[in-house]
Amino acid sequence: MNVIVVNGYEEMSDRAFAIMKDIVVKNPAAVLGLATGSTPIGLYRRMVADHAAAGTSYRAVRTVNLDEYAGLAPDHEQSYAYFMRTNLFDGIDILPENTHIENGIAEDAAAECARYNELLETLRQDIQVLGIGSNGHIAFNEPGTPFDMTTHVVDLTESTIRDNARLFAREEDVPRRAFTMGPKNIMNAARILILANGANKARAVYGLVRGEVTPSLPASILQHHPDCTLICDRAAAALLSDEKGVS
Ligand code: F6R
Repeated sequence: MNVIVVNGYEEMSDRAFAIMKDIVVKNPAAVLGLATGSTPIGLYRRMVADHAAAGTSYRAVRTVNLDEYAGLAPDHEQSYAYFMRTNLFDGIDILPENTHIENGIAEDAAAECARYNELLETLRQDIQVLGIGSNGHIAFNEPGTPFDMTTHVVDLTESTIRDNARLFAREEDVPRRAFTMGPKNIMNAARILILANGANKARAVYGLVRGEVTPSLPASILQHHPDCTLICDRAAAALLSDEKGVS
């Protein structure tokens, strides 16, 4: 794993943006695997600003998102579909039909998971952007998720519900279930870019980089990915005491 330690959130976002822009410039029809949450917002802001200033085009780009809350329609303000539109898609020239995310209100959840897995077979991510949960989750793959799982519906853990409650009016409004790509869909990406900032991510980052590869810390599977880059700030890197392999 290539580990890049930076001073803070803005520098993390700058470095992530440089990687994403390079991919889109070199391959205007790239498949970008995207994440929601607080972590990639700075990256998305830079993509929007750069599209306006430099005209980088996303007209042929395709995107696949990691996850979506079960029970929330795409126009629900807390849905991840809405998050992606307001934080990125509305600010660039991507075609809505080229953006993909699980349908949170699918009537047949198993059929929706199968549909998404088939889609991911045809749209292999050239790069997959990830955040990391304080419990080491990636996407909504909570501790204990077998590494060979593909898209599925999960019951969110109490810690994830608490972490996400800040975005809802009341904790009881946070959906209890979600659709998520599985570790296997994530590992299938040609390249992984995982971002982490803040002291509350330090234990998870330690497990990601130095811990045992175990489903108890889902992100640890990324140690087996041939092209994985972690960009994290000093607070998130605090437990990576020896600087070997860390730039
Ligand atoms: C989001 C996702 C989650 C987040 C993680 C970190 O699509 O899949 O795994 O990346 O929960 O969330 P933030 O960035 O809000 O700390």
